[in-house]
Amino acid sequence: MPLTTTGELITRARAARSAVAAFNIITLEHVEGVVAGAERAGVPVVLQVSENAVRFHRGSLFPLARAAVAAAERAAVPVALHLDHVRTDRLLRQAADAGFGSVMYDASHLPYDENLAATRAAVDRAHAQGLWIEAELGEMDGKDGGAPRDAHAPGARTDPAEASSFVTHSGVDALAVAVGSVHAMTTRTATLDHALLGRLTAVLEVPLVLHGSSGVPDEELRAAVAGGIAKVNIGTALNQALTGTLRTYLGAHPDAVDPRPYLDEGREAMARTVERIVTAVGLTPA
Ligand code: G3H
Ligand code: ZN
Repeated sequence: MPLTTTGELITRARAARSAVAAFNIITLEHVEGVVAGAERAGVPVVLQVSENAVRFHRGSLFPLARAAVAAAERAAVPVALHLDHVRTDRLLRQAADAGFGSVMYDASHLPYDENLAATRAAVDRAHAQGLWIEAELGEMDGKDGGAPRDAHAPGARTDPAEASSFVTHSGVDALAVAVGSVHAMTTRTATLDHALLGRLTAVLEVPLVLHGSSGVPDEELRAAVAGGIAKVNIGTALNQALTGTLRTYLGAHPDAVDPRPYLDEGREAMARTVERIVTAVGLTPA
């Protein structure tokens, strides 16, 4: 199937009052596992590469991106490529050439005025390349490996009036909102602020994005999608599946040398995770 874009998938999902799932990929096995899980569930999917993942690949975006494009083109469901949590202009400039149709520009760690100015400039650069761009207001901790901040801390929430002004003045195509999820949770115990989400959807016309969805239980994710979340970002759940499987395999096979048996099991565990989440959340079929 031809590579599609996040913007296109979100437009279709919103028309069906649903959302699109976006999974963070780090290795080729992540790419293959996510596509396999989406195909089994019969839903479109976004493969997203974070700036942290690019750093892991020693600063090179293209090798993983080329693999993701090739997998997308061979997939039986629509697949889009998204560049996630971008903070550097260098990466933003590479996005379109590498096959990405969308980026998330992350200046959420900056004070409001600086976040707005940096995002406005990023929007201009992204739109000049034909890219759909998401930004974030209301910082969610945990993405830099630090201890997640309490999801209920006032500073970790998005203010509706501020968000409305931010969207108007930045020109972003979508907004990541902080409504109670936290990056890198390894337990699914987050409670979302659905009243706040309701106030945000009432004042914002752009699609809303939920980050840190690994820590959000299925029923909370379902309610968030019903309440207006259009893109659900999931990363840690895949890494738990991969690493947990490898740990078990290597414990049972201490003399293992060939990586293929345990990478195969890890890839399959990621595929099952993808299929389980998109099915449980009830995302709309391709
Ligand atoms: O942008 C990526 C997501 O927010 C992933 O968060 O690893 O907590 O699922 P997660
Ligand atoms: Zn995120």
